[in-house]
Amino acid sequence: MAAHVRQADGVSLRKLVARDLERIEEEFQSEDGAGTAQWFGFWNTNGLRARLEQDQHIGAQDGALAVTLGADIVGKVDWFSNTAWGRANTSACWEIAVGIFAAYRGRGIGTTAQGLLIDYLFAHYPRHRIQATTAVENIAEQRAIEKLGFSREGVVRQAQWRAGQWHDQVLYSLLRPEWEAAR
Ligand SMILES: CC(C)(COP(=O)(O)OP(=O)(O)OC[C@H]1O[C@@H](n2cnc3c(N)ncnc32)[C@H](O)[C@@H]1OP(=O)(O)O)[C@@H](O)C(=O)NCCC(=O)NCCS
Repeated sequence: MAAHVRQADGVSLRKLVARDLERIEEEFQSEDGAGTAQWFGFWNTNGLRARLEQDQHIGAQDGALAVTLGADIVGKVDWFSNTAWGRANTSACWEIAVGIFAAYRGRGIGTTAQGLLIDYLFAHYPRHRIQATTAVENIAEQRAIEKLGFSREGVVRQAQWRAGQWHDQVLYSLLRPEWEAAR
């Protein structure tokens, strides 16, 4: 994680386990729970269990980890392969996503968790670029990602359907040499 980012104490990442899935279902099945900019309606959570059974949410092309504060799960981070920039096996980059449970937002946990995920992904995979997108109105996520050293690359216009209308998204990236320089 970039040396200048203040880390929230006691925050870690670990593999998801069965008892986490109920908490994730409870927390993210409402607009307040998911966050206004991440609420796309109810979603089928059966896949969470199937995926746990299949590969414990650690796949070759995507994955997810629990965000913990002490012994408690307080959110989830995800990553997946973005292959929009060229041939999948040569130009793929990681894209990251995060959700912190509502009661734990605004205390530095989202920034810390994404910093830990970036460290994890650059350490364990030889990829060059990590990208993130978020809604233009999601100021908390933009601040978090900027504090971690991501560059704002531009606005992707009206790309996301949510709450009865199309929403602009902001695209960010962090490159491996930038991450190495910040450590
Ligand atoms: C977005 C999210 C991950 C940020 O994590 P967090 O733990 O709440 O945020 P942090 O405490 O690390 O704060 C990050 C920055 O955002 C600011 N911030 C936090 N909540 C804010 C809010 N509601 N409005 C504006 N800024 C806010 C903080 O002040 C901080 O900036 P600063 O250091 O300049 O003061 C979290 O709020 C969340 O899970 N939201 C719902 C799901 C979501 O939007 N996920 C991102 C999807 S792309």
